[in-house]
Amino acid sequence: MDAPGSPLFSRIRLASPSDVPHVHKLIHQMAVFENLSHVCSTTESDLSANLFTSPPFQSFTIFILEVSPKPFPENSPHNSNPNYIPVVRILNSDHPMDDPDREIFKSEDENVVVAGFALFFPNFPAYTGRPGLFLEAIFVRKCYRRKGFGKMLLSAVAKQAVKMNYCEVFWLVLNRNVNATRFYEDMGAQILPEWRICRLAGDALQLHENDN
Ligand SMILES: CC(C)(COP(=O)(O)OP(=O)(O)OC[C@H]1O[C@@H](n2cnc3c(N)ncnc32)[C@H](O)[C@@H]1OP(=O)(O)O)[C@@H](O)C(=O)NCCC(=O)NCCS
Repeated sequence: MDAPGSPLFSRIRLASPSDVPHVHKLIHQMAVFENLSHVCSTTESDLSANLFTSPPFQSFTIFILEVSPKPFPENSPHNSNPNYIPVVRILNSDHPMDDPDREIFKSEDENVVVAGFALFFPNFPAYTGRPGLFLEAIFVRKCYRRKGFGKMLLSAVAKQAVKMNYCEVFWLVLNRNVNATRFYEDMGAQILPEWRICRLAGDALQLHENDN
């Protein structure tokens, strides 16, 4: 018997260079969400030049979240990627998903749509003497939120950290992003209010060019 409602298949897989246009759009949507469009200058060529330059997990790594009303093909090349076996889940929704940006985010396979991403890379928390993962960005497109996909993405990053025997996953969240903070707390994360973020960038960074 068919499952009730409309099944939605979801998959987390490693990103590849052909995902750059979608990743670029997701980053810009995230900047709009965070009211940070004015500082978001990322271009597709920046991403192409700086991502995918090292094997996955050794440097900047992206997990892509995709959804499809049809099962993902078993012979998909992603299933034979030696670096990462995709995570697949089925969500039974009461209604078919209404995605206003479907055309912008659809992939080569007509049925598949990119719904979110997580970008992370190794760091080294000195006090532990072991590497961790720094989660630079996590984003689920608006129409796919509150369905467990954010949890699926963050869990995939955490699971990878455990697999590599890393000590932690670490990230930043804006004070005003109350919903994301609730999500992180729900995931079991500790929020550390005693820390502040420091950054040297733009002119303040360039001033140091001739330091010795
Ligand atoms: C934060 C984000 C990644 C969470 O993804 P999501 O798919 O919506 O989250 P999930 O459905 O997996 O939520 C898991 C749990 O987290 C909590 N949670 C998630 N969103 C929440 C919200 N808006 N308000 C309260 N609790 C929330 C809930 O406990 C939820 O479980 P429930 O839906 O069964 O109650 C997503 O909302 C998002 O991309 N937001 C915009 C970008 C952003 O804020 N990124 C983080 C920057 S630091």
